[in-house]
Amino acid sequence: MNTIEAIKQRRSIRTFNEQKINNKDIQTILECAMSAPTARNQQGFRFVVVDDKTILKDIASNIEHGKMCKDASHAIVVCYEVKDELSELYWVQDASATTENILLSATDLGIASVWVAVHPREIKINFITNYFKLPMTIKPLCVVALGYKDNFLKEVDRFDKSKVCYNTSLWDNFN
Ligand SMILES: Cc1cc2nc3c(=O)[nH]c(=O)nc-3n(C[C@H](O)[C@H](O)[C@H](O)COP(=O)(O)O)c2cc1C
Repeated sequence: MNTIEAIKQRRSIRTFNEQKINNKDIQTILECAMSAPTARNQQGFRFVVVDDKTILKDIASNIEHGKMCKDASHAIVVCYEVKDELSELYWVQDASATTENILLSATDLGIASVWVAVHPREIKINFITNYFKLPMTIKPLCVVALGYKDNFLKEVDRFDKSKVCYNTSLWDNFN
C-alpha cells in the first residue's frame, strides 16, 4: 500500500476481533509515530502502550466514546511533554501529527484503528493522568484503539471543491 492509498483507506473502526497485534507491528507503528514533524523538532511525544485486558477495560468504561477499547488488541495513549513556552503553544499540533502517523501506519499494516479523544475534556484528562500516574508535565491528547477487524469500512471520497479556493478567500465564488 502506498501513502496515498493508506490516507484514503483509513477509517475509524470501532469493533475488533480477537486477533492480537504482534510486537514487530507495534514497534513499526511507534517508529512511524516518532517520525512525525514537531515544532522546532522538540519530539516531546510520549506513549503508553497498553495490551493488558484489565487496563483496556478500565479505559473503555471510564472514557466516554471509548467503549471499543475493551475489545482492542492494544491501545496507545498519546501524550506530550509540555515543559516550556514552545511546547505549551504547539503540543496539540505535535501530538496530533504523531497520532495521524499511528493511524496511517496501522492502516498500511492492515490494522484497524480509531482516535479516541481525551484532550480537551477535563474529566478524561483527569482519568488518564491519575490512572497512569502521569507526571504534571505529561499531557494526554488521545487514546488510539488498535486491533483487527474482519471487514474494513469502504473508502469514502470527501473531496468537495466548494471548500477550496485558489489565490483568494472568496469561497462563495465557487458556489
Ligand atoms: C480529534 C478527534 C477526536 C475523536 N474522538 C473520537 C472518540 O472519542 N470516539 C470515537 O469513536 N471516534 C472519535 N474520533 C473519530 C471520528 O469520529 C472519525 O474520524 C470521523 O467520524 C470520520 O470517520 P473516519 O475516521 O472513518 O473517516 C475522533 C477523531 C478526531 C480527529
